[in-house]
Amino acid sequence: MSTVAAILSPFLKKDLSQSEIDYKREEAINLAQAIQLDVRYVEDIALRAITPATYVGKGVIERIKGEFESLTEEGAEHLESPIELVYVDAHLSPVQQRNLEKAFKAKVIDRIGLILEIFGARAQTREGQLQVELAALDYQKSRLVRSWTHLERQRGGAGFMGGPGERQIEIDRRLISERITMLKKDLDKVRQNRHLQKRNRDKVPFPIVALVGYTNAGKSTLFNRLTRSNIMAKDMLFATLDTTMRKLSLPNHQEVLLSDTVGFISDLPTHLIAAFRATLEQLEYADVILHVKDSASPAMQEQERDVYDILKGFNLSRDTAHVIEVYNKIDLLDAEKRLDNLRYLRDGKDIAVSALTGEGCDELLDLIASQLTKKHETLRLITDIKNGAFISWLHENSDVLEEEYSEKQVSFTLRIGPAGKGRLVHHYSELFQLS
Ligand code: GTP
Repeated sequence: MSTVAAILSPFLKKDLSQSEIDYKREEAINLAQAIQLDVRYVEDIALRAITPATYVGKGVIERIKGEFESLTEEGAEHLESPIELVYVDAHLSPVQQRNLEKAFKAKVIDRIGLILEIFGARAQTREGQLQVELAALDYQKSRLVRSWTHLERQRGGAGFMGGPGERQIEIDRRLISERITMLKKDLDKVRQNRHLQKRNRDKVPFPIVALVGYTNAGKSTLFNRLTRSNIMAKDMLFATLDTTMRKLSLPNHQEVLLSDTVGFISDLPTHLIAAFRATLEQLEYADVILHVKDSASPAMQEQERDVYDILKGFNLSRDTAHVIEVYNKIDLLDAEKRLDNLRYLRDGKDIAVSALTGEGCDELLDLIASQLTKKHETLRLITDIKNGAFISWLHENSDVLEEEYSEKQVSFTLRIGPAGKGRLVHHYSELFQLS
């Protein structure tokens, strides 16, 4: 049974426009649905100021309590309120959270708490799971001194809601600290392992094309469209938390690996940024990066800013040569907006598509191919005729323009991309000479 929840979306009156208020509420609902909360009540709350003890004012709390009570179903009159969980779309201090829990007689979580829940439920790789648990413990450490009396009996929904939430009463700070130390050790081990895997990745004989973008921008849908596969694409935030890779053949027959990545979101808890970065590691060696954007979202520009804030850590910006801006969901735009949108497009660098209808997707594939060949260079090299395996590798991983056999040697003229060249130099440097 899913947890019955209410969403309160508070904001400072002077700060937001109506469309921003609508967007904030929609995102809050999406976040709640990402862990299948059964949302029965949603309210935007305009505040003149933040009340230190409870975030929203006393009057508002009393009124909302009344609203909750009126939701009580027939036959359940003994319940004061059917709401088990209140999601407050804001950053609450531990004190505010505790006071609100007392007032509503329900579990209260804030934005960070909810994002941690979602990440916890979705993380699949060992590293992802460890990072999320670490972030959750760190977040909970500051919230340990709270009264759980009315919550003990309560069963939470997914992830940590019923887990560490309940465990919290049993374990003290010392145990949490010990667990944190252990997790950090585990993480170190996993990371060392990943370095090994990364070295193996160098052997991948294809260039890597990585999809990045704000959550719900349509990355998985585009991934499926391009690779004709069927990974989870849902109207659900963070449907993809770990990286998925699939082979894709471009129109010029070049094969590439397309990788889908976790969706970005604003206001990520600091610790989760590390978890998040770890899942984005392949960006460091991606040959082309597709930044997918929801061009139908009123918040497209803010989302873009949030994405680039993280990408900065990888030395990537909108102007990086191998970043392509993909304006997705153009099927949702009316003719005028479409034109407006197309005006953003820079020559040959950006593209407008609909992952849903397929519009623009062939052009996108061409664009990827031309980006890849742009970075190709011509090399001449000589190798011993006995190096059969290496010669086949060259055929598979470069465009062989000329190939001349003599008695003992073969000389090649070929076009090769940076990924291929990297692997050539890395793994085969003893088998050839440049000529
Ligand atoms: P995360 O996994 O949260 O990062 O999301 P994502 O970026 O992978 O988004 P996903 O592909 O799951 O799509 C989110 C929602 O947008 C789904 O309901 C899709 O059907 C919808 N969607 C994706 N592309 C398009 C598009 O071109 N047009 C329309 N109308 N909807 C789209």
